[in-house]
Amino acid sequence: MIIAIDGPVGSGKSTIAKLVAQKLGFTYIDTGAMYRAVALKIIKTKTPLKVSEIVKMMENTKIDLVQTEEGLKVYLDGEDVTEEIRTEDVAKLASQIARYGEIRKRLVQFQRKLGERAGNVVIEGRDTGTVIFPNAELKIYLTASPEERARRRYEQLKEKGFNVPFEHLVEKIRERDKMDMERKESPLKPAEDSVIIDTTDKTIDEVVEIIINLAKERMKKS
Ligand code: DC
Repeated sequence: MIIAIDGPVGSGKSTIAKLVAQKLGFTYIDTGAMYRAVALKIIKTKTPLKVSEIVKMMENTKIDLVQTEEGLKVYLDGEDVTEEIRTEDVAKLASQIARYGEIRKRLVQFQRKLGERAGNVVIEGRDTGTVIFPNAELKIYLTASPEERARRRYEQLKEKGFNVPFEHLVEKIRERDKMDMERKESPLKPAEDSVIIDTTDKTIDEVVEIIINLAKERMKKS
């Protein structure tokens, strides 16, 4: 069974997808981590921001997602970059390069292969239900207001000891929404047959429960 979860930054996607996968014993695939890994490599190798150069670089790049006891680890050419890919700079560049069809095509191929190999998966990103697995048994689209998403990010950063102005975070979120939703190639949007869940006033556990119940219903039907 494939559960595809899409949504904008801060919608709770990653946290929720991880928990759903854990509870169902499914493999968790974070597609955004791959765009981030490519972006990190561009920064590290100073690859020019030209599609042909990036594609060439990708041919000599190995990205691995490894499921461990501590959660999903991301390896770039054998190096653990799980933490390093989480910065704002990497996120912004990931969103910029995600506009290009040639780059997406390669990552989508890889993501499909990973999903098919794993069998039972929760895959999360922006196009998992629209492009990667249009036949997924269950498609979820998570949303929340930009202010609520910024508040969540603010709390996360505060916990890590960073004090970033709230307004700045709202601005960053709007900027990334615009890039992800208005691009020509596989823009972020709900699949026609997705279940849309607004998480603004819901706890993580509530959303996880809704998804698990939907998954169980669909499993019974098939
Ligand atoms: O989910 P995330 O924040 O880690 O994703 C980083 C960027 O990668 C996001 O702004 C857009 C892009 N992305 C995408 O275009 N398609 C995906 N399936 C996943 C991420």
